[in-house]
Amino acid sequence: VIGVPEYRPAFPDGSRPGIGIVGCGQIVRNAHLPAYAKYGCNVVGVYDVRPEAARGVDAAAFSTLEELLADRRVAIVDIATGPAPRVELIRHALAAGKHVLAQKPLALDVELARTVADEAERAGLKLAVNQNARWAPPWRIATLLVQEGAVGEVHAVAHLLERGFEFVLQYPHFDEIEHLLLYDHCIHWIDISRCWLDGARPTSVHAREYRTPAQPPPTRQPWGGWIAVEYENGASATIRSTGGAVTGSPGCRFWIHGSEGTIRGSILLGSDRVELERRGETTTYPLEGAWYPDGFAGAMAELASAITDDREPYNSARHNLLSLELTLAACRSADDAGAPVLL
Ligand SMILES: NC(=O)c1ccc[n+]([C@@H]2O[C@H](COP(=O)([O-])OP(=O)(O)OC[C@H]3O[C@@H](n4cnc5c(N)ncnc54)[C@H](O)[C@@H]3O)[C@@H](O)[C@H]2O)c1
Repeated sequence: VIGVPEYRPAFPDGSRPGIGIVGCGQIVRNAHLPAYAKYGCNVVGVYDVRPEAARGVDAAAFSTLEELLADRRVAIVDIATGPAPRVELIRHALAAGKHVLAQKPLALDVELARTVADEAERAGLKLAVNQNARWAPPWRIATLLVQEGAVGEVHAVAHLLERGFEFVLQYPHFDEIEHLLLYDHCIHWIDISRCWLDGARPTSVHAREYRTPAQPPPTRQPWGGWIAVEYENGASATIRSTGGAVTGSPGCRFWIHGSEGTIRGSILLGSDRVELERRGETTTYPLEGAWYPDGFAGAMAELASAITDDREPYNSARHNLLSLELTLAACRSADDAGAPVLL
């Protein structure tokens, strides 16, 4: 019998390291800060190059980056800008002796990401990536079940995104991101698939992106597309975005097929569920919390625990390099009409 894995975000007992947030945009307001408030985190303050961005948030505002980095109460710098200034900001934080949680995508290219991961390790500091979807409750349970061997060896991961991207109309800055679907959004799906296939070696990535006929005309970036990752041992991961679904039950379905069983479930848009089928029995797991905001506490809690235990966090920059490499390969394949990109 496989019990309910301990999937909820868990901070080390009594320890809430001081957090300084750099970049105070929509994701910080809508997810980082609500998650930190829910889990009793110690947010020392926020800094944004646009002072108006920090106005009205329930946290003190630093007027310069230097001031934030010089504050001894700040142990973790939570970098939540877009990816362009990220690596430089990480370097400033490391130079000030701070651990870092960096939003995804970690960097614009893999070599730069690798270099900064090396730099953090040499400095004896933790650099983690905010792949908060790893702590979306159904995905977190699935990961822990896979790690326990509940489905044996995983040979196929599949995702079906039955949803549109209407949030782009409310937050138009997303529509300015080239490869919004693959690079900014599906990076979470690529990352989790890679976690479920940990240990297997990916050999190639194919991907396509296209505007669907139903996509609202003002939106620029394609909402439809797919990604296929092939592995040396014959395993595969596929991610398909419908780009929109007229249904009363939208969500992002997933399946994990292994040699001894199947995990299936769904995340987002009120669809959260997860079940394990093995040896003729199906177990459905009770769920508490959701990706937004609890996943954001999960990513921070893992870093805080790794600092306390002095170990590599599960969401380390080092572990994230392959996710970034696969994501960038998907973008290159889409630019080349879906031609395979070999790894
Ligand atoms: N689930 C998730 O993890 C999730 C969801 C949405 C967005 N994101 C990621 O979060 C990041 C931010 O996205 P967003 O939607 O909040 O964008 P945003 O544009 O709303 O916010 C970014 C903020 O960073 C500030 N900024 C830019 N450069 C800076 C610098 N050098 N120093 C300090 N502040 C600076 C900007 O002024 C802005 O307020 C992106 O990388 C995006 O991919 C992650």
